Amino acid sequence: MQLSSRATSLTPSLSLSIDSKAKAMKSEGIDICSFGAGEPDFDTPEHVKAAAIAALEAGFTKYTPSSGIPELRQAIVDKLFNDNDLEYKPSQIIVSNGAKHACYNAILATCQPGDEVIIPAPYWLSYPEMVRLAGAEPVFVQTKEENHWKITAEEFENAMTPRTKMIIINTPGNPTGSVYSRSELEMIAAVAAEEEILILSDEIYEKLVYDGAEHFSIGAVGPDAYNLTITVNGFSKAYAMTGWRLGYLGAPEAIARAVDSIQSHITSNACSFAQKGGLAALKGEQQSVTDMRDEFNLRREYMLDRFSKMPNISVVRPDGAFYVLANVSKLGLSSQNFADRLLSKANVAVVPGVAFGDDRTVRFSYATGLDVIKKGMDRFEEFCRTV
Ligand SMILES: Cc1ncc(COP(=O)(O)O)c(C=O)c1O
Repeated sequence: MQLSSRATSLTPSLSLSIDSKAKAMKSEGIDICSFGAGEPDFDTPEHVKAAAIAALEAGFTKYTPSSGIPELRQAIVDKLFNDNDLEYKPSQIIVSNGAKHACYNAILATCQPGDEVIIPAPYWLSYPEMVRLAGAEPVFVQTKEENHWKITAEEFENAMTPRTKMIIINTPGNPTGSVYSRSELEMIAAVAAEEEILILSDEIYEKLVYDGAEHFSIGAVGPDAYNLTITVNGFSKAYAMTGWRLGYLGAPEAIARAVDSIQSHITSNACSFAQKGGLAALKGEQQSVTDMRDEFNLRREYMLDRFSKMPNISVVRPDGAFYVLANVSKLGLSSQNFADRLLSKANVAVVPGVAFGDDRTVRFSYATGLDVIKKGMDRFEEFCRTV
């Protein structure tokens, strides 16, 4: 059977393949320390679950407007205003089935064959595939460790061509943990404004920042940036709601309308009672978010301390998300080979950086308990001594 070129051009997810190998080994009874997780290992806060259960029991089980229930869109407007200094109207907000869906909708609504989308590498592995699915072309810009894996305005400018339609900025970043400062975002926004390049700002890890780092939204740096930016966020990481599939975007009216139209034909609304849970998450106590962040920070400090004592591994101190990207290139293996050997010889699972567009690195997630982290770091250290 002939599959579409769209389908066959996609790269299978390397993070999932390591994960399934690790799971298969676990099911054989092997004690695996996995640093592969892309989701918080905490449970969704109780009051969020209670709101969804109450909605189900009240029969809130039907279609909603495809763009989301009005009270959730209003709560998102309030959140973006209070936390991010972004002034949207409810009509500019579209609720989707996760931030991933929101990113894809945004790209589908704005990019087409002939367009280029600038993606700073290392990148979250779904961006290039989304761009390709839209028929556009990803253009990768390799960022530097000395710039904390962040694209500079100059690098952005140098990568621009007459075909550039969009740049994707992900702060805090996956897999780097890098957090852009306000002034870095201002410089990037100024370059974007010169040629009216759209900015897709993926802020899903917003609430997970450490050591006094602050999250800024590029859409809030000025009116030009606001008019060019699609702000994406969601519930998965901040409220440990990955399985609920709930995210959103805020965008200029014309883009929001186009996204609504695309979504209405493909998925319709995000799950009705999940939306009620999302409403409770935004309106309820935020202490659980802070508690989770503090726990992540303890693990992060521990891991960074361990890495700092490993002579052949270099790590840029991540200020956000729950990942550490370790440069293992001094050990002379490709990232895939390194990850495969680490798994088979030391029973430690990490994601090879080639999946994120950087073959010198592997990604460690600390969304796992400190006991596993300690044991896994011991094994990793020993493996690096003997590789
Ligand atoms: C950078 C980034 N954006 C978006 C997502 C997807 O979030 P959601 O679960 O809301 O679709 C992820 C998930 O790993 C991510 O790392």
